[in-house]
Amino acid sequence: MTHDEAIEAYILQHMDEESDYLKALYRKAHLKLINPRMTSGHLQGRLLKMLVQLARPKRVLEIGTFAGYSALCMAEGLGEGALLHTYEIDDELEDFTRPWIEGSPYGDKVCFHIGNALEEVPQLGEVFDFVFMDGDKRQYMEYYEMILQHTSPGALILADNTLWDGHVVDKAYLNDRQTVAINEFNAFVAADKRVEKLILPLRDGLTMIRKK
Ligand SMILES: C[S@@+](CC[C@H](N)C(=O)[O-])C[C@H]1O[C@@H](n2cnc3c(N)ncnc32)[C@H](O)[C@@H]1O
Repeated sequence: MTHDEAIEAYILQHMDEESDYLKALYRKAHLKLINPRMTSGHLQGRLLKMLVQLARPKRVLEIGTFAGYSALCMAEGLGEGALLHTYEIDDELEDFTRPWIEGSPYGDKVCFHIGNALEEVPQLGEVFDFVFMDGDKRQYMEYYEMILQHTSPGALILADNTLWDGHVVDKAYLNDRQTVAINEFNAFVAADKRVEKLILPLRDGLTMIRKK
């Protein structure tokens, strides 16, 4: 076991467990779906739940549902009357993901939409106070500007994968389209006076952005 693997194992042994339902969903996603590594895991899932509990949002938006793992973690932290809207552009995921969301103890807190969040969120007429941005990395700039138009002051926006496996500082990836897009997004957010921001070096990088 490498040092990093030992630290990761240590962290997981010294924090809350995920539910058996989430464990089973994570396992099934790895058996049945292509690119299961996209699923938020145990640590990030518990962080999402805790951030939702602390921020106490009324309306949560997620861009990129995939298997529904992160959506269900956030739903677990929602208070009475609060709702999460999650968007997935790939309609082939619906048969897998919808039963997992609707069959969970938090299914009534989640509205699962199949469609392009960039087109559909503006038509929903909601104002969000918590957002998890986890769709196509090449569209992060577009998601960001759209989200800023549909969030309240004080809203928390989380952008996942903003260190892109360390490629953001690796010259070998200077021309990789996803790396270029993430670097543009990171530079833009860093200079954006409308928000406060920091990058957590968790997993693949998680940017926390607070709208002023
Ligand atoms: C990294 S995965 C999401 C993982 C999930 N949030 C989790 O943490 O378990 C990204 C997903 O975003 C979806 N996606 C990409 N562009 C999108 C868009 N414009 N609107 C909605 N979903 C999108 C992809 O099809 C993919 O399933």
